Amino acid sequence: MQNHYRNPLLRMAPGYVFSGDIHWQSPSNIAIVKYWGKHGQQLPRNASISFTLQAAYTETELSYSPRTQESSDIALDFYFEGQPQPAFAQKINKFLSELAASEIMPFLPQFQLTIHSSNSFPHSAGIASSASSMSALALCLCTMEQELFGTLNSPAEFFRKASYFARLGSGSACRSLYPVMGEWGTLEKLADSTDLWASPCADWVHPVFHTYHDDILIVSKGEKSVSSRAGHQLMEGNPYAAARYQQANDNMVKLVDVLKAGDVHAFGEIAELEALTLHALMMSSQPPYLLMKPNSLAMIEKIREYRNETGQPLYFTLDAGPNLHLLYPTEIAEQVAPFIQSELLPLCEDGKMIRDRVGQGPVKFSA
Ligand code: PMV
Repeated sequence: MQNHYRNPLLRMAPGYVFSGDIHWQSPSNIAIVKYWGKHGQQLPRNASISFTLQAAYTETELSYSPRTQESSDIALDFYFEGQPQPAFAQKINKFLSELAASEIMPFLPQFQLTIHSSNSFPHSAGIASSASSMSALALCLCTMEQELFGTLNSPAEFFRKASYFARLGSGSACRSLYPVMGEWGTLEKLADSTDLWASPCADWVHPVFHTYHDDILIVSKGEKSVSSRAGHQLMEGNPYAAARYQQANDNMVKLVDVLKAGDVHAFGEIAELEALTLHALMMSSQPPYLLMKPNSLAMIEKIREYRNETGQPLYFTLDAGPNLHLLYPTEIAEQVAPFIQSELLPLCEDGKMIRDRVGQGPVKFSA
């Protein structure tokens, strides 16, 4: 684990009595330029940028109280949607143990921790929950550190550190911390950019992109045949990897100007190129694999036909799965609604679509 936030002094004195309850809601995000390929401890091979979503989020409550006995392991009770969830609990336990062992949060074993987590979207909707769940957990951990030690002096510092923690949990989660869009990865064009955490973008992104819709067309609710984790790993042997990382950084450079200018068509072209490139990388991995389904392709054709006929800036992106994310500015929402309803919805599994939009980032609830 990278030790940029290592601080072995963050420990409670013997006989401390601090306890607390922390509650955050944090959203999912959808990448426009994709992060696909990593090295070291969740460090990206290229820069990426995403819309922060609104409707798809995780709520996490973290309670902590002093442990009666000294121990170096993590004491965690974890509940997902009210029920114990051993598989998730194990993943979170491992994450917290690494934070403690690498002295980023050495105080964690001093507490009994209870986490309750739930998602705003159904578990089997084919939507990745790692970005929202890991960013919500990272926010809770940062608040805990702040309550105990007062180490984080400004909101900017707080969110930067939360983004750093989120990245260690699940790379793309680090971009969920900010309103409208989050950028992650060193890019010469963006002065504050770094591979270590994501940075906010709302100030320089044109207002039209603050209004964007993301209708998630559920082509399949099933589990993916190849996880993102395995997908990232397969990039290490992909013969196109070097060219891809260069292309992604070039797309980022172009996209920054497009986002500043408010050019919705240039934006859509980059979004679709990135989506199809992501899936081309899967198809050219060794072994090759396919996550799109016949209806993903049928929808793509329909969207392109509709765009050719109407000239409307209706574009799509894809995550590492078969579901399409329809991206468009709110000013065309009424015009595109009948097309979505009559042509795309029938191609969704059980006619299921999740309407999401660009959102304002995480929310903290008072205890
Ligand atoms: O954060 P991970 O390891 O789940 O990887 C996410 C990868 C994509 O969602 C496909 C792209 C991205 O940038 O979010």
